[in-house]
Amino acid sequence: MDQKKRDDLLLAIKEEVIACQKCGLYKTRILPVVGQGNHSAQIMFIGEAPGANEDKTGVPFCGSAGQILNQLLASVGIKREDVYIANILKDRPPGNREPAPDEISACTPYLLRQIAIIEPKIIATLGNYATHFILEKFGVPNSRLGISQLRGQKFAVSDPLTKKPYIIIPLYHPAVAIYNRQQLDTLKNDFKIIGEQLK
Ligand code: URA
Repeated sequence: MDQKKRDDLLLAIKEEVIACQKCGLYKTRILPVVGQGNHSAQIMFIGEAPGANEDKTGVPFCGSAGQILNQLLASVGIKREDVYIANILKDRPPGNREPAPDEISACTPYLLRQIAIIEPKIIATLGNYATHFILEKFGVPNSRLGISQLRGQKFAVSDPLTKKPYIIIPLYHPAVAIYNRQQLDTLKNDFKIIGEQLK
């Protein structure tokens, strides 16, 4: 797909998300966080849901978890503007509670369309919610294992509809590393897999 087509299709999704009332989250959020980055990115990061900072700005991973993500990207020489970042939910759940199943089913068709348009080589899932959703969607067995067992592995899959191949790499959510040095080291190590895979 050429760049212009990608831009147009992603803009259409943005407009749909702004008007979306498929679950109740639109009532409490300030801004939807649709996704940010390069529309032809080789790698897409998928987090859980916007937090307070993201809700105010509309920008994914712009708070303290975002600072960790920026640090991890820099550690393997990847520029943030070269990747695409989105979440399972586009709207902030009140008080940062966990995403509810009906919210996940209402919102994730947008994410799956974003993946199909961007066609990244790698889908890096951040934390349990993103990992479980994406592994299950792409038919990976044992997708319900905990993130501590799945992290750092590579799963080669292909889209059942488009046949487009993806490499899924589950990672800890960067928020776990805010106060935990050991988790930060694990994340840094797991990020090396992404660096190698992009070569
Ligand atoms: N945590 C997430 O999962 N996503 C964001 O955009 C910010 C924090």
